[in-house]
Amino acid sequence: QVFKLEDYRPSDFSIPQTGLTFRLSPDATRVTAVLTIERRDGAAASASLVLDGDGLVLKRIAIDGRELAPADYLATPDQLTILKPPARFELLLETEIAPASNEALMGLYRSSNVYCTQCEAEGFRRITYFLDRPDILSIYTVRIEARMDEAPLLLSNGNPVESGPLTDGWHYARWHDPFPKPSYLFALVAGNLGQVADSFVTMSGRKVELGIYVEPGKEGLAGYAMDALKRSMQWDEQAFGREYDLDVFNIVAVSDFNMGAMENKGLNIFNDKYVLADRETATDADFANIEAIVAHEYFHNWTGNRITCRDWFQLCLKEGLTVFRDHEFSADQRSRAVKRIAEVRTLRAHQFPEDQGPLAHPVRPRRYREINNFYTATVYEKGSEVVRMIRTILGPEAFRAGMDLYFERHDGEAATIEDFLKVFEDVSGRDLSQFALWYHQAGTPNLTVSSTHNPAAREFTLEIEQSVPPTPSESRKRLMHIPLAFGLVGAGGEPVAYGGVEGAAVEDGVIHIRKRRHMVRFSGVDERPAVSLNRGFSAPITLSVEQKADDQFFLAGHDSDAFARWQAFNTLLTDALIAAFRQILGGAKPAFSARLTGLAGKIAGDETLEPAYCALALSLPGEADIARDIGRTIDPDAIFAAREALALAIARANQDAFANIYGRLADDGRFSPDAASAGRRALRNTLLDYLSLLPGGASLAAWHFEAATNMTDRAAALTVLAHRHDGSPEAVKALAGFEARYGADPLVMDKWFQIQASVPGPKTVERVRALTGHAAFSMANPNRVRSLVGTFSSANQTGFHRADGEGYRFFAQTVLEVEKRNPQVAARLATALRSWRSLEPGRQAKAREALLAIAGAENLSADLRDIVERTLA
Ligand code: ARG
Ligand code: ZN
Repeated sequence: QVFKLEDYRPSDFSIPQTGLTFRLSPDATRVTAVLTIERRDGAAASASLVLDGDGLVLKRIAIDGRELAPADYLATPDQLTILKPPARFELLLETEIAPASNEALMGLYRSSNVYCTQCEAEGFRRITYFLDRPDILSIYTVRIEARMDEAPLLLSNGNPVESGPLTDGWHYARWHDPFPKPSYLFALVAGNLGQVADSFVTMSGRKVELGIYVEPGKEGLAGYAMDALKRSMQWDEQAFGREYDLDVFNIVAVSDFNMGAMENKGLNIFNDKYVLADRETATDADFANIEAIVAHEYFHNWTGNRITCRDWFQLCLKEGLTVFRDHEFSADQRSRAVKRIAEVRTLRAHQFPEDQGPLAHPVRPRRYREINNFYTATVYEKGSEVVRMIRTILGPEAFRAGMDLYFERHDGEAATIEDFLKVFEDVSGRDLSQFALWYHQAGTPNLTVSSTHNPAAREFTLEIEQSVPPTPSESRKRLMHIPLAFGLVGAGGEPVAYGGVEGAAVEDGVIHIRKRRHMVRFSGVDERPAVSLNRGFSAPITLSVEQKADDQFFLAGHDSDAFARWQAFNTLLTDALIAAFRQILGGAKPAFSARLTGLAGKIAGDETLEPAYCALALSLPGEADIARDIGRTIDPDAIFAAREALALAIARANQDAFANIYGRLADDGRFSPDAASAGRRALRNTLLDYLSLLPGGASLAAWHFEAATNMTDRAAALTVLAHRHDGSPEAVKALAGFEARYGADPLVMDKWFQIQASVPGPKTVERVRALTGHAAFSMANPNRVRSLVGTFSSANQTGFHRADGEGYRFFAQTVLEVEKRNPQVAARLATALRSWRSLEPGRQAKAREALLAIAGAENLSADLRDIVERTLA
């Protein structure tokens, strides 16, 4: 079944009140729903009520206290139709569900004996029959009954109302959420959990009780998440004027979770990987993720919950906007420049390939078969970039005014992208209709730019041409409005003043590209400047710039915009890598300029730069990034060889300097997860990676591993040993030591799986296959599957794309095995082959065979079928 945006129609019925009673038991939980249902004004009196279900067993049905006769309704596991319902009535439904055998982890399920729920997008219908769509807003009252010994803790959305004992060792709790919400935000948690408690006083002086619930014994690992939560609450007041609105805010960490986390009203449920952390078990990247995700889910309280989505086509309305908000939060808490570079790296690594392959779709899709497959980098990350561009176009004040208007105008509603754009048009008086294409049109726009300087006329001219490549089902593209931030940089690094501009609107350092071609002419420019383009990554585009290497080197050393400076160096590295790739394919030995390798040394030693910036600059473009930039007939082995050669050349050219800086950054044994400390560790570990390529590298890494006083350094050293010195006594010893030390900690073992799954080369597929039999591995746990199989297929170019296709065969088998339990996780895994058409012909054929093997399997889930069919189309 295909769902289409243009088919949207409001429901004939509304459900103003929802009462739910759960009598919890692992194999037979009784759910009693009492729904107040009203026929909407204007709906036909003859309209029957059709409720969504998914695998449900109906045990009882009554209207206004009267049991229904079989002729009054039609119940299947997936639908309940009530024929000729009255205009206003109370519907009672009893269903029975089995949380313990729910391995899809949607609806009500058990994770390590804790009852928990995941309802977004369409999981609520696995609990009871309902109008399970986001524009049905209802006020929920929930009663939970459970055995006291099995589930001492009973949580749901909203505020606690009452609780107490029942007979036979049972007890109950009642929760009431005063804010109308869609069913996807419903949540319940019941079990035996440890609590970390704190409180927050909001800007209007209301006290909110905060709780983070974790597996008993792990309370000590929730401190950072709690701190991040309080900082998030405060930041949303300051940055957006948004105050929290309930008496309590709870977060629960569970170990089996399909995604990162979920913003259920007042009761966020998290993958424990994004809650639990201390120096011993979590890396700096883990700390940063926890901070960002805690903030993200908290920010959803306004962008998602108070204002929700009319339908699932509008998913980016809450996700893109909330990602933008969490990015801004992290930028304010950490280093804005470093954060921006990291964001762009992520966008390019995940969204660009999606946008350039068979799974491309607009930020607001127009059709879907399975909505769970649209929780994508395009909806989230590109969706965030689109919001950022609105701010760039309007400026920060008008943007804030627009957001204020959005909250005021749409609070309590299920809104659309059109509603969102309208508030910014209203506050600014601007016409955003061309800009709106960013939501409607898929594909990554490209700008081709060349420049000329005419000293006699004192004119500097940019010729800019835009194009948007075709994407599936959109062969013809319309011209976009692209805000291109730029700077003209003089020989001393200073901004070049110009007299006037013609050819395009230029405001506050931004060229507004709206046509196919623009000739932007700056007058009064005496000397030819270097042009810095797409500063701050003002638009999510690709650039083809005719730029002299001299200018590129100059910008890499002097651009005042940190992002653009990083970009200039990254472009130099990428160009060198692509040239080396071609040399290798042509049978030659790649060579690199001393100017390039020398600049790497200068950056590492430049004390005016933040260490975190240097670390990002020195980490070479990934193999997948290089492949994406090459575009076609990819041979991952040649890319790998090119990258290794450049790394070695940089290491050799800067041996002494790197060793010095590495020494200067030595760990003093104190630990703080703050951004500056993390940045120093990042630079030191990046240098270790280079130094490990030189003689004595394995013993240096082994020493680094043994001496580490935190997980960041330990995992970095283990990665170097396993990836650069696989099979060496040092690597073998470190891997075994790590396993012995952390074997009982699943989240840390995930790192051990990841590091091994990403060992480059043809032998890794066998190793990964063997590791699926490891005691710490489980096909039923999404984190384990993603760490081992997900890492292998999406982050190991030479291993996964082994020339004989063995990587793909293992992958196809595993995807199908995971799918039997958990279609959503399997479908996500399967996207690893989305760029198969850019491979060289031999690998392409083998990748296709693997996709066909998946497509041909019996009883394929809608989730997986959707992904493989679109990938093959
Ligand atoms: N809304 C959640 C978040 O971004 C993600 C939930 C995804 N769920 C799903 N079934 N795809 O914070
Ligand atoms: Zn979200």
